[in-house]
Amino acid sequence: MDSGRSVLSSIVASQIDTHRKYGGVVPELASREHLRSIVPVVDEAMLMAGVGWNDLAAVAVTQGPGLIGSLLVGITYAKAIHFAHGIPLIGVNHLEGHIHAVVLEHPETELPAIALIVSGGHTQLYHVRGNFEYELIAKTRDDAAGEAYDKVGKLLGYPYPAGPILDKLALHGDPRAVKFTRAHMKGNPLDFSFSGLKTAVLRWTEANDISEETAARRAAGADADWLSLTPKRTLDLIASFQHTVIRELLSRLHVLTEAHDAKSIIITGGVACNAGLRAAAGTARLPVPVFFPTPGLSTDNAAMIAAAAFSKLRRREFADLSMKPKASLAL
Ligand code: KG4
Ligand code: ZN
Repeated sequence: MDSGRSVLSSIVASQIDTHRKYGGVVPELASREHLRSIVPVVDEAMLMAGVGWNDLAAVAVTQGPGLIGSLLVGITYAKAIHFAHGIPLIGVNHLEGHIHAVVLEHPETELPAIALIVSGGHTQLYHVRGNFEYELIAKTRDDAAGEAYDKVGKLLGYPYPAGPILDKLALHGDPRAVKFTRAHMKGNPLDFSFSGLKTAVLRWTEANDISEETAARRAAGADADWLSLTPKRTLDLIASFQHTVIRELLSRLHVLTEAHDAKSIIITGGVACNAGLRAAAGTARLPVPVFFPTPGLSTDNAAMIAAAAFSKLRRREFADLSMKPKASLAL
């Protein structure tokens, strides 16, 4: 990143092929893949940006939250760069990175803002004050939204990650065909819950025998023509599932914007790629502008971590060799 504003290069190593055969991320394999990729990825990023170590003002790395083994690989390598080249080290919260992915592309994002972070690991609402201070307003009690997509997809025989596949199929079904009841929350009524929805889909698969079509999908390759392998009633189920998730994700934004006098809404994380969510946010008549990152910056990437690090660089908020990975680092 140059000056926290322009991305000089963005290299992302995907591990999806490794995890697909297990139907989800296997932590052990994730750290092994990180170890395998980190040196070539950093080298390529430096090459594409046309910079050497001496050009760097700092090296930023995710401190957490995340899988401890993967965090450890990144932190150890960043510390090595810091130590060997005498470059300041900055630890960044992964979720702050997701928020900065939006601010990076939309400098017009006005604070205070309401931020919805939706990914495979997180579903959280934050109040982002001026000065980028964060207050957690609500979170999921169980599954994250992306996790719900992936688990429902797995149940129906689609490969990991099923989110993008279900998103495309949802266009071809009737979103009102299957009625799902809303989860009622004890405690914080703004919290999310997606495990009940996943169970409701499971009950639907038991009531409508779909074992044959599911088996056909499981036998198909990762790049199969999913539409031709999905009968109408299943398309209707998928559209109804997606409709329910989107309704949940968007339903709290209006009141929260008003309650916190927010000037903008930020929606970010892997699930922010969802075309249905983007379209629904556009027609939801939210009282302030809604900003999404482009798909390349919605899913995990290093540019957003560097962008989030820039204000820390200006404040000279540096870490040292004692920095430790934190699996559940609060924002
Ligand atoms: O942010 P991300 O790359 O990694 C995490 O930190 O989790 O998000 C990945 C998640 C996966 O669960 C994936 O299924 C979901 O984002 N995802 C989507 C879509 N694209 C990615 N979910 C729904 N619709 C999509 N288009
Ligand atoms: Zn993420």
